[in-house]
Amino acid sequence: MKKLSIKLGILFFLIIFGLITVMFFFLHMGIAESRVEEELKALQARGNSHRAILEKHFNKETIDHVVLMESESMTDVIITNKNGKVLNSSSEFASLKKYLKLPASPITAEGQIVEDNWKDEPYIATISPVEVNGQLIAYVFMFENTASVHSLIQGLNEHFLLAGWISVCLTIIIIIFLSKGITKPLLKMKEATSQLSKGQFSVSLPIASDDELGDLAKSIELLSRDLNYLKQERNEFLASISHELRTPLTYIKGYADIVQKRKLPDEEREKYLNIIVEETNRLSVLIKELFDLAKIDQNSFAIQKERIDLRPFFTKMEQKLSLAFQEKGINFTLQCPQNIFIQADPLRLEQIILNLLDNSIKYSQAGADIKLKAWQHKKSIHISIQDNGKGIPEKEIPLIFNRFYRVEKSRTRSLGGTGLGLAIVKELVQAHGAELHVKSKENAGTEVELIFKGELKQ
Ligand SMILES: Nc1ncnc2c1ncn2[C@@H]1O[C@H](COP(=O)(O)OP(=O)(O)O)[C@@H](O)[C@H]1O
Ligand SMILES: [Mg+2]
Repeated sequence: MKKLSIKLGILFFLIIFGLITVMFFFLHMGIAESRVEEELKALQARGNSHRAILEKHFNKETIDHVVLMESESMTDVIITNKNGKVLNSSSEFASLKKYLKLPASPITAEGQIVEDNWKDEPYIATISPVEVNGQLIAYVFMFENTASVHSLIQGLNEHFLLAGWISVCLTIIIIIFLSKGITKPLLKMKEATSQLSKGQFSVSLPIASDDELGDLAKSIELLSRDLNYLKQERNEFLASISHELRTPLTYIKGYADIVQKRKLPDEEREKYLNIIVEETNRLSVLIKELFDLAKIDQNSFAIQKERIDLRPFFTKMEQKLSLAFQEKGINFTLQCPQNIFIQADPLRLEQIILNLLDNSIKYSQAGADIKLKAWQHKKSIHISIQDNGKGIPEKEIPLIFNRFYRVEKSRTRSLGGTGLGLAIVKELVQAHGAELHVKSKENAGTEVELIFKGELKQ
């Protein structure tokens, strides 16, 4: 992980250093060039002003005067006649001689630059023509020692170097803090995830920022919480399964032992064998339901929706259940208008409705009323199963969808309940993208309502 901060640091540094270098290079060049240009312009202007004086009074006196003025200044002047013969100069002109090149073609009154190579030459130089009545009579050459330009550039270099050092130091400091700021939380997250992979799900990552790193930390924390919850749930589920499987097996083994070992009167024998059959049925229901749940949990489970005409669909179910209704003297009513259609998986929908009706039958007294209704409201299809049975205590309503949850453990057991029915219903309803609502009042009855939204494709 430390490697990351070094890599990041070096990368940042190279990028910033490169940028600074390029920037400084161009800035430096620009300043130097414009400085030299200014010097040349000033030199030319000075030459031109000498020229203007000479054009007014071109005599030895004026020439001497101009030369005298220049001998006191940083610049130098040489005045030649139109053939290049030196008339006067403000300093020893031996070193300046090589610049005394006459222009090959006539030049404008503004004059021109003779030498601007300040880097290699000791002087920069300009030339201005002196004309009287349109006749070229002389030239004014102006010179400036490039030493001054060089010292200027030298000063500039020193400033740039200082600025360069300061910015390099600053970038290094910033990079150190920045890469620490990035890698530190990453390091913590890495530790957290490796803890997760070791099975320690209670990690906490104090979130310092609200950026992507903070989001990542939050996600990891959420993940750890979810994993923790799943682990607990799985443990509880496994414990419940083993308990639920063991109970009927204990009965079966116990009664089988009795029947096998003792000589019992036929009546009693019959009774015990009935219990064995009952418990065996329970076991097979339980195993079937567990298998259903396992299939749903695995993502291989797929819903195959098709258009279902609800009325014939429910009528067929009513026929299937008629025996169960008769047995318990139940008053069943189906309220479903013609031509209500729904997009659902018919097998799963049947499983949902059967489970709910089975509960209504199981948890109602003999002679109870059970209603199966379907209707259309706006774009949704509503299906409700209503009974006037013993109802569910309000506190327990949210719990009945949990696996193995039964309101009265012992009583529902005698009714053959496993506590898995509603868990399966919930999963199936969710897989359809539908909603499920339970209203119930103790000793008054229960209503379960399913809402299939926007399923109205006729
Ligand atoms: N219509 C109902 N009336 C009263 N109680 C109900 C009804 N439906 C469900 N319950 C309660 O919810 C519990 C869970 O139901 P379910 O998951 O179907 O399990 P099971 O039917 O195997 O007992 C039941 O044990 C019962 O206590
Ligand atoms: Mg049930």
